[in-house]
Amino acid sequence: MSYPRVASLKNGESFRRHLSDSSIELPFAEEVGTGPQSPLGSSIEVHGQSIGNRFCILPMEGWDGTTEGKPTDLTRRRWQNFGLSGAKLIWGGEAVAVRHDGRANPNQLLINEANLGEIASLRDELVNTHADHFGDTNDLMVGLQLTHSGRYAKPNDKKRPEPRVVQRNVVLDRRVGVEDDSAILSDDELSQLIDDFITAAVAAERAGFTFVDVKHCHGYLGHELLAGVDRPGRFGGSFENRTRFLRDIVEGIRGATSGLHVGVRLSVFDFVPYCPGEDRVGIAEPDSEPRKTFGGNATGDGMDLSEPSRLITLMKEIGIRMVCTTAGSPYYNPHIQRPAFFPPSDGYQPPEDPLRGVARQIAAVAELKKRHPEMTFIGSGYTYLQDYLPNVGQAVIEQQMADSIGLGRMVLSYPELPADVIAGRDWQRKKVCRTFSDCTTAPREGIVSGCYPLDPFYKNREEREWLKAAKARLQK
Ligand SMILES: Cc1cc2nc3c(=O)[nH]c(=O)nc-3n(C[C@H](O)[C@H](O)[C@H](O)COP(=O)(O)O)c2cc1C
Ligand code: SF4
Repeated sequence: MSYPRVASLKNGESFRRHLSDSSIELPFAEEVGTGPQSPLGSSIEVHGQSIGNRFCILPMEGWDGTTEGKPTDLTRRRWQNFGLSGAKLIWGGEAVAVRHDGRANPNQLLINEANLGEIASLRDELVNTHADHFGDTNDLMVGLQLTHSGRYAKPNDKKRPEPRVVQRNVVLDRRVGVEDDSAILSDDELSQLIDDFITAAVAAERAGFTFVDVKHCHGYLGHELLAGVDRPGRFGGSFENRTRFLRDIVEGIRGATSGLHVGVRLSVFDFVPYCPGEDRVGIAEPDSEPRKTFGGNATGDGMDLSEPSRLITLMKEIGIRMVCTTAGSPYYNPHIQRPAFFPPSDGYQPPEDPLRGVARQIAAVAELKKRHPEMTFIGSGYTYLQDYLPNVGQAVIEQQMADSIGLGRMVLSYPELPADVIAGRDWQRKKVCRTFSDCTTAPREGIVSGCYPLDPFYKNREEREWLKAAKARLQK
């Protein structure tokens, strides 16, 4: 598999030539506009509130909370950086567990009475940082992402999976050590969990968040429920049953809060799990089950948007207006979720030009936006576009293929990107994320996440040496 690095495509013309030679379809604006009237600088309105521009900061956790689930200085720095980015939509900050057994790692934030003041202060510090740099915060919208990690729960020990699953799955069970049905959450346990989400949402409203994201992506519990075709009972089998969890949570939140809005981060399509094949290039794992992918087709590595589109119709009916789109899972098919040139330590070499992965997510969202024009769609997976992110982002907005451009990894390496683009300031090339994946490899090796290659703050931390040693060990 050979394809050029994006950094080697020296101008827009060579980038576009590469796209055309590779039959990769991406929209592209030659000139990126600046100022509040420009495509990326213009505002949108959702739930009667103005969101001041078309950049959104995607949720990104750092595996850096305390074991009680409170933020640390590292967490605070990340949220402050989100505030100074200039983006006017903050989608969730990071995944926050609604209860202990749902934490993806022992350092994931946990929302409860004891931690609420500190979680509220994360939001306040983000808003204050934004105010210090940009003045107006009336057009800044901040939500909190609520999660239960389900199959990927590791609440007590970084190295010990304690999965709670929806249904058995040959490949994924093997990966997280599920050997019998005892890991399956019962219907009663799911009903209790619905109450926990509602309690967490009430707390989030008290902490000042405008909305909560009831997370349904990346292989975590909400997402796995959507694919629970083999699960018997109230939460499995039919589309109606598989979406009951979301419906009941939203109904409960409506009854228990006064003005809190609800959004959903959704993996809008999924592929089967991938594994390293020859030369470590990713291949679909042989005994995987395509029917257990939500938004996947029968081949296991293609999309079928009919159920995701049906879900968005349902969301509309229950008053949801914002969908933050993503795809697949960082655990079992990272190339479709966060396209990268360099895979994380537990990954595989990209089976395709990562630009194809970017284009796939953009096309899926464009199709859903076409079918549901009244919904607000946030796109993800743009970081791999690197120097051409603003050109593609602007074209996506101009062509109404999405409403907001979500930024993940790029904002770890280059937090001021949205503000620089909208103000027309010089592009800071040295800060552009080149998808080295250290921010994913570090937590996989038990080290706090951060942009070790490019952010001087992480470059100078002792964990960088540990990360280097871990990578050297893995390469042997
Ligand atoms: C270090 C790291 C932490 C992440 N944490 C979360 C999270 O807490 N919740 C979530 O929904 N997605 C999380 N993601 C996924 C991102 O939000 C985003 O979907 C992904 O990085 C692709 O966007 P990008 O190409 O702009 O990086 C994380 C990604 C990274 C790299
Ligand atoms: S470590 Fe930095 S450069 Fe590497 S993928 Fe993460 S944000 Fe990008």
